[in-house]
Amino acid sequence: MEAVAWVDERLRLLDQTLLPQEVRVIDVDTVDDLVGAIRRLAVRGAPALGAAGALGVVVAMDEAAREGWTDQRRDERIAVLRSARPTAVNLAWAVDQVAPLVAAGRAAVLARALAILEADRTGNHEIGRRGADWLVARLGARRLRLLTHCNTGSLATAGWGTALGVVRELAERDLVGGVIVDETRPLLQGSRLTAWELAQAGIEHAVVADGAAAGLILGGHVDAVVVGADRIAANGDTANKVGTVGLALACADAGVAFVVAAPESTIDAASPDGAHIEIEARDEDEVLTFAGIRVAPAASRGLNPAFDVTPARLVTAIVTDRRVIDVAGGDRPVASGERMRQVGE
Ligand code: MRU
Repeated sequence: MEAVAWVDERLRLLDQTLLPQEVRVIDVDTVDDLVGAIRRLAVRGAPALGAAGALGVVVAMDEAAREGWTDQRRDERIAVLRSARPTAVNLAWAVDQVAPLVAAGRAAVLARALAILEADRTGNHEIGRRGADWLVARLGARRLRLLTHCNTGSLATAGWGTALGVVRELAERDLVGGVIVDETRPLLQGSRLTAWELAQAGIEHAVVADGAAAGLILGGHVDAVVVGADRIAANGDTANKVGTVGLALACADAGVAFVVAAPESTIDAASPDGAHIEIEARDEDEVLTFAGIRVAPAASRGLNPAFDVTPARLVTAIVTDRRVIDVAGGDRPVASGERMRQVGE
């Protein structure tokens, strides 16, 4: 089941808010519907947001043609789509890849958007191979006990996954001795989505409360932590789902490898460091309620940053579709003055 697909000339999303209880797809015909789906996390995960954004430009062109929009109105709607969620750079990156082709026509935009989708799918297998090779070289060819946070699998990408792609690759080599899955409060991407994907893949796993993770790492129950990223600054500071930095702190103290797995498109050369990354603030109700029921006292307010930034000094390595960046060894994702490559280059 694909998180983002182009089917019968329409954008089709898997509604991840309903998983794992219900598998339902949404066909998206308007920019408003797509922006709404992105904001309520029906489609989510940095690379999947990029794919949805790129195909969303075709949705905008189709809607413009149907509704008789001016070019200005169409471009305004594309700009709203581009910034529907602020932290995952892949959304803006992907829209920026296809938007310049609007003048060349729908076919050119669609072809580039589908190329982004396909590049992500093949790139994830590359991330998986590189990440697995790196872990085996560092820790030995034995069954590794891994811990992951949020969801970085097929649901968060065009397919296979980034951090979860590394787990899948290791599992194919019979090198996984169990995966600890953080439930990932408040929206439970770990217990709902990652556990669902691991169960489908037949990979042994256990869901834990987020608060259990640091103790398990310090207690020697984890060989490596592998997470994804929403934006990696030029210096290696990494924004990912809230709760990630606590894992990195525990790993640093315990001497456990903390590995970030993400496509090159998640590296943002325009953000020199983590202080320049906008962290999405989500509705306080997400933390004040559980399964739709208010659990905090009526007088309490909530604070709901959706992401946090792990400083580069806590990251052991960043694995991309092109390279492994030895962050602990002093390597940085972007050398000063380096330009990021475009898809197809
Ligand atoms: O709020 P979400 O569910 O979109 O957050 C997703 C994450 O934080 C992922 O770890 C990240 O996007 C990488 S997905 C391959």
